[in-house]
Amino acid sequence: MATETIPGYDFGAPDLQRSPVSPEDLRLLERTLLWSEEDDRYLRMAAEVLDGQVDQVLDLWYDYVASHEHLVRYFAGPDGQPIGSYLERVRARFAQWVRDVCRRPRDQAWLDYQHEIALRHTSAKKNRTDGVESVPEVPLRYMVAFIFPITATMRRFLAARGHGQADVDGMHTAWFKAVVLHVCLWCQPYAAGRW
Ligand code: HEM
Repeated sequence: MATETIPGYDFGAPDLQRSPVSPEDLRLLERTLLWSEEDDRYLRMAAEVLDGQVDQVLDLWYDYVASHEHLVRYFAGPDGQPIGSYLERVRARFAQWVRDVCRRPRDQAWLDYQHEIALRHTSAKKNRTDGVESVPEVPLRYMVAFIFPITATMRRFLAARGHGQADVDGMHTAWFKAVVLHVCLWCQPYAAGRW
């Protein structure tokens, strides 16, 4: 899907808030994660491998959320029922995020959109993009806990195109580091001064 046709996908939009995280802080986080040029190379490889599989990845993640009442409630309305249009619109942006993780340079525009995604999980901005009445905030503890399923489930897709063990391991490690990096940045509005 062309990015301009994804409702609410505002990467690079001129009215986005500037991230409170400096490029220097980002580089220090990358160093903390032992980020290397290999990781960038493997993410580009993952981009190729995941091409044509992103929908299946999203099917799996959505089944996982849907099968846990304590998670799907963050997509539910006041009647406790999941809001179909909300799930659908977020799904398209989530799919684009997978592509962005693998392909986007981590520059200022990227940093600013990470801040926007962070805010969209908190009471500052959740529900606004899609004009829904749902639970006001995703709790921080679930943001952190999600790192495991979002990482573990990816392996089978990275292995699905016949790459050798070393390449699959490399792509999987790079993906793991990338998810942790995102969640570190997305913690910022939850922790503000203590971030
Ligand atoms: C590793 C952790 C997580 C990742 C990678 C992730 C990824 C994403 C992405 C890419 C988006 C769309 C961003 C955009 O608007 O462009 C999103 C939105 C959303 N996510 Fe997460 N998410 C995580 C944790 C969670 C958890 C634990 C929940 C709760 C079940 C959750 C619920 C939501 C909801 C409700 C939205 C829509 C927010 C809005 O109203 O704009 N997410 N997430």
